[in-house]
Amino acid sequence: MMSDSMNSPASYPASSNNAGAAARSVASSQSEMTEFILPNDANMLGNLLGGRLMHFIDLVAAMAAYRHSRNHVVTASMEHIDFIAPVHVGDLLILKASINRVFHSSMEVGVKVWVENPLAATHRHVSSAYLTFVAIDGNGKSVPVPALLSASIDEKRRFEDAGRRRETRNQEQNRKRQNQAAHQNKGAIESQNK
Ligand SMILES: CC(C)(COP(=O)(O)OP(=O)(O)OC[C@H]1O[C@@H](n2cnc3c(N)ncnc32)[C@H](O)[C@@H]1OP(=O)(O)O)[C@@H](O)C(=O)NCCC(=O)NCCS
Repeated sequence: MMSDSMNSPASYPASSNNAGAAARSVASSQSEMTEFILPNDANMLGNLLGGRLMHFIDLVAAMAAYRHSRNHVVTASMEHIDFIAPVHVGDLLILKASINRVFHSSMEVGVKVWVENPLAATHRHVSSAYLTFVAIDGNGKSVPVPALLSASIDEKRRFEDAGRRRETRNQEQNRKRQNQAAHQNKGAIESQNK
């Protein structure tokens, strides 16, 4: 998530210096957001648009990443999102974001979304997502972020799961790079044979 005024690296404001910063707890950056769903957010069936929900998820996740890193951050990926049940006009949307794991300059943020029916006072889980944010300096270059203290059993489980997801992501990136290289080699051989 970046504001329009930050759309070129040259215009990034100076970042804070996290070198040697102490590890921070999961609780210290947990973030919550509540939205009242209005007709403007919905499709013709009166359901919240998926893209609008993704926007809210990006925002609440960015809050947690900012709070943990105390630095400028950008969304590097939103790699998994489940739309479990529709959200209707008139619902209250409640979003909660937590840092699952910090690597070097990147942080995986988990977001869980519920709707509250304000008349019945009931809550329903409607969506979950994982996003990766990267802390950047004034030139748009990645910078290290403080370590994460995962204390509870749930926090430790999320930490382990985030590691597995990163491994899968890296394998997929390597596969894509190899495919690209093979494609370029093929193109070069074909143009030599012409
Ligand atoms: C995110 C960004 C800073 C990464 O740049 P980069 O040159 O790949 O940086 P690095 O090679 O130094 O990698 C930095 C970190 O980003 C992670 N990363 C890079 N691309 C990633 C991706 N697609 N998904 C998850 N993590 C990613 C790397 O794993 C690395 O993590 P680590 O430091 O914790 O090990 C750069 O791609 C960027 O600025 N993207 C645009 C962001 C943006 O505009 N977001 C809003 C979209 S609308």
